[in-house]
This record gives sequence, C-alpha cells and structure tokens, in this order.
Amino acid sequence: MRAHPAGALHGDTAAPPHPLGPPPDDLAVLDPAVWPIGTGRADGGVLTLAGCDVRDLATEHGSPMYVVVEQDVRARCRAYRDAFGEDTDIYYAAKAFLSKEVARWILSEDLSFDVATGGELELALAAGVPADRILLHGNNKSSAELEAAVAAGVSRIVLDSDLEIARLAHIADKAGVRQRVLVRVTVGVEAHTHEFIATAHEDQKFGFSLASGAALEAVRRVHMLPSLELVGLHSHIGSQIFDTAGFEVAAHRVIGFAAVVRDALGITLPELDLGGGFGIAYTAADDPADIVEIAKQLRAIVERECATLALPVPRLAFEPGRAIIGPAGVTLYEVGTIKDVDGIRTYVSVDGGMSDNIRTALYDADYTCVLASRRSDAEPMLARVVGKHCEAGDIVVRDVWLPSDLAPGDLLAVAATGAYCRSMASNYNAVPRPPVIAVRDGNSSVLVRRETVADLLGLDQG
Ligand code: LLP
Repeated sequence: MRAHPAGALHGDTAAPPHPLGPPPDDLAVLDPAVWPIGTGRADGGVLTLAGCDVRDLATEHGSPMYVVVEQDVRARCRAYRDAFGEDTDIYYAAKAFLSKEVARWILSEDLSFDVATGGELELALAAGVPADRILLHGNNKSSAELEAAVAAGVSRIVLDSDLEIARLAHIADKAGVRQRVLVRVTVGVEAHTHEFIATAHEDQKFGFSLASGAALEAVRRVHMLPSLELVGLHSHIGSQIFDTAGFEVAAHRVIGFAAVVRDALGITLPELDLGGGFGIAYTAADDPADIVEIAKQLRAIVERECATLALPVPRLAFEPGRAIIGPAGVTLYEVGTIKDVDGIRTYVSVDGGMSDNIRTALYDADYTCVLASRRSDAEPMLARVVGKHCEAGDIVVRDVWLPSDLAPGDLLAVAATGAYCRSMASNYNAVPRPPVIAVRDGNSSVLVRRETVADLLGLDQG
C-alpha cells in the first residue's frame, strides 16, 4: 500500500515521524511564496510556468530540465533595487547561477555583478556586462585571474589575504593602474544557518580577522601601496539568513572597525559592502522577511552605528545571489520507478538527482515538489523523491505529500531550484547536466543546452 493517510502520522502505525504536517486538502495547490511568479495550473491540472505547459516543455527540451522564469528574476531585481534605492549598489552574486542571457536580464534591471572566479568574470564580460559593473571576490584568486580582472578594468577587487595584497599591488603596478579595492573582514558572527554556508566566524578561510588585528594590518598595508585605492570594507556573514540580527552585529563590528581605521590611520572609508545571504522560501515552512523591511532596518542600523561613532554614512553595497535567482527556478523531472518500502515511505525515483541538485545531500536542504503533468485526486502518500545515482544520500526532496496514483512518466516539478543547483551540478555517474530553459509569455528558449555523453567523451583524451 502506497498511501500513508494523515492519521497514520500521529497514530500507532509504523509511519515514521517527519517534519511535514498533515497533507493539504488539495495537493495541486501552489504556494505563491515558493513557486515563481506566473505559475499556474491549466486544464487537466497541468502545471504552467509563465504560460508554458510543462508537458510541452518536456516534449520540446527533454527531461530533466531547469526552468527559469524571466519575469520572476526581473521582479526580484527590481524589488532589491527599489528597496535599497539608488544610493546603494546591488551586485548580483553570479555564483548562484550565471548564463549570458540571465546576466543581460539582470544588467538591464540595473544591477551590478559579483564574480568569484576568472570563469565567472569571463562569462559576465561575454554577456556584455561592462567591467566597471563587476566586483571580483575569491580567497585564492590566481595571478592570471587578477591580471584578467585588472586588464578588463573591473570596478572593485575584494582583498582576502596578505599574499593577495602583494600579488595585486604588483599586477596593478605593472599594468599602470590604480585598482580600487575593498578589504574583506571576518567579523566573528555565528550566522544562524548551515555551518558550510556560514562565513564570518573566526575559524574559516575567508577574510582578515578583526579580532586578531589582521584586518587593521591589512588596511595599513593596502593604504601604503600606491597601485591600490582602498575604498571600503567588506563583510559577508553567510547564506540563507532570514533576519537582520546577524547583519546588525556585523555592521556594528565593521563600522566600529572603520572608526578604528579612522583613528589609527586618519582614513575615512567611503564604502561598506555587507555581502549577500538573504534567505528565500524553499518550502512553506520558510518565512523570509520582506526585503523592503530588511532594507529599511539595515539602513537604520548603519546610520545609527555611524552616528554613534561620528562617521559619515558610507555608500552601501549588497550581494544577493539566491534571493534574485533562486525562487525563479524550477526543476522538472520525469518519474521512473516507484518503490514502496512498506510501512516506512514511498521512494519515487526521478531521472536526475544529486548531480543536478547537491543541496539536499550537502546542506540537508528542504525542497518541495508537486505532480506537474496532470491533476490527481488520489489519496496523498508520504514520498521521498530520490535521484538515479549510486548513493543512498541521493535525495532531491526528503519528505513530500504526493498523490498515491503517481506513475512512471509523470512529471514532477521541484520549486526554488534557481540558485546553486545548476551552478553546483556535476557529472557524477557520467550523467550529462540538464539544460536551462527560460520561459516568458508562453514561450521557451534554451539558455544553456543539455550536455550530452558526447560532451563528456570529448573531454576524455584516452
Ligand atoms: N557574497 C559573497 C562574498 C558570497 O560568498 C556569497 C555566497 C554571496 C555574496 C551570495 O550569497 P547568497 O545571497 O546567494 O546567499 N552553495 C550554497 C551557498 C554558498 C554561497 C557562497 N557564497 C548553497 O547552495 O546554499
């Protein structure tokens, strides 16, 4: 028996405890907090994304596929721009996902770009992003990456180590330019998020420690180097953060440090970049604060801290990645096999898995999904959606209610996969990576084509 009726969850049957509540009255209902703008159901219950029938998408582009809803990305760019206002720079963190066309959407919405490698830099430049709208990050930028960034004329480089200060100063000097830089500081904040995506506690690889004095030493050195122009400080406390508490502590410490810099070196730093990390709703259980509210609070925090220390309010910058692209993305999979592990749960295997979404395995991330290719009024069953890889941890959606008449060939749609799924995808088990399909006004187009086994064989020189 595949169905686990709601009552069995709390009763005396063998059904395991799990974080899901009872099944919703109607499994077809789409939570607007989780699904992209314009997601709906057509006749027969078929899921539509920006007016595109997912069955048509699967017929045209195959399965699995990542779908990205252009209108959703644009709306989120605007929401960030409007919430923070013209006197704040918003850098889209390209690591979340980057393709040339997506970069053009984001650029046309007046955002700038944070890139973290030479590859991301080249992609952004290839998309036509002007170099003076690009900021370069990275804890281990190679000389070649720094040379490429300086040659392109990127607007800012965020310095992350002593070695890099010397390396960049030399490269900028050779190129005959004065490179604008920020110094990344580690503020010692324990962000309330998964440990792998928290980045401001002392024991990790990023930035210069405020507590140890390394940050002051770095600022002093950079200030003395004529080929580097120190414009500000940078702090990024982590990712998938829902409130301003962590930012508040970070702002308090970084602005306190800016006052130390002023007092020790006589420099007033004009810019402050507080990084990214704004959380999104992956499931109905997530409740991220409204960005207008967050922006208001962050500005108030910065103004208050600066007033206390008699510092002018710096120009602010933020680097949202996930919050721009995450909710706009949906992954479509086809159901292959269904296995009822009696009394425990039903395993639904799809034609992708940890190679296209490693986040569940890596961070214990929660996702939700729906039957997308038809309507079903069958009784709900407690399901675990798993991939096709040779690992027990190859889980896409840990717990979800799905209709108990689910069958091979049905399409499932997993919500909020726009960030860090394609960009962290692998070829594990020699599985080619899925395409990225843009949808808009009932039309679809290929942003990134499907990989083929021929692509993989092409790399193999044996
Ligand atoms: N700025 C800096 C310096 C960063 O290191 C990051 C993310 C961001 C901005 C953007 O963070 P976002 O707004 O997207 O949270 N792979 C993980 C996330 C790691 C993010 C690394 N840095 C995940 O899938 O959750």
